[in-house]
Amino acid sequence: MSETYDDEQQAFDCTVNGTPTRLVGDPAAPASIALRARGLFSVRETCGLGVCGTCTVLLDDEPVSTCITPLFALEGRSVRTAEGLEDGGRLSELQQQFVESQAFQCSFCTPGFLLSGTALLSRTEGELDDDAIEEGLQGHLCRCGCYDSIKHAVRTCAARRLQDTGRIR
Ligand code: FES
Ligand code: FES
Repeated sequence: MSETYDDEQQAFDCTVNGTPTRLVGDPAAPASIALRARGLFSVRETCGLGVCGTCTVLLDDEPVSTCITPLFALEGRSVRTAEGLEDGGRLSELQQQFVESQAFQCSFCTPGFLLSGTALLSRTEGELDDDAIEEGLQGHLCRCGCYDSIKHAVRTCAARRLQDTGRIR
């Protein structure tokens, strides 16, 4: 932890989407607030209770709900948001598959599903069945009811990975 700011504000150094970043805010406040203040608007706070998944980021490659993760917990950690999934303007494999599978309507839930889906694919070898996908994506709600197409996207991405390089961006 670095210097102390006025009132309740403190600075916390972490890496966000590969870039060293200093986040400033109330240490006990939800990390989602400081991330959105840095323009990372894929981090969407909805329930504020850790039950809907829209505020998900990958913290050291594991999905966490930033509405219930205090800002101080990001100190020294690696944070990945949906903004960091693309590579040089090229969609990640899972992002591309979401497009091809039409795995969204309003897309409000999409960043969270993409991040947990990416984490699931990264820790899994071989194909994924619906049970494994549902377990990997538990804690995410889609109010538009796109669950079948979301599962199709993840399942297809896992199958394609077997034919390609074996690397999920
Ligand atoms: S806003 Fe964080 S889980 Fe719903
Ligand atoms: S696509 Fe609208 S909430 Fe999921």
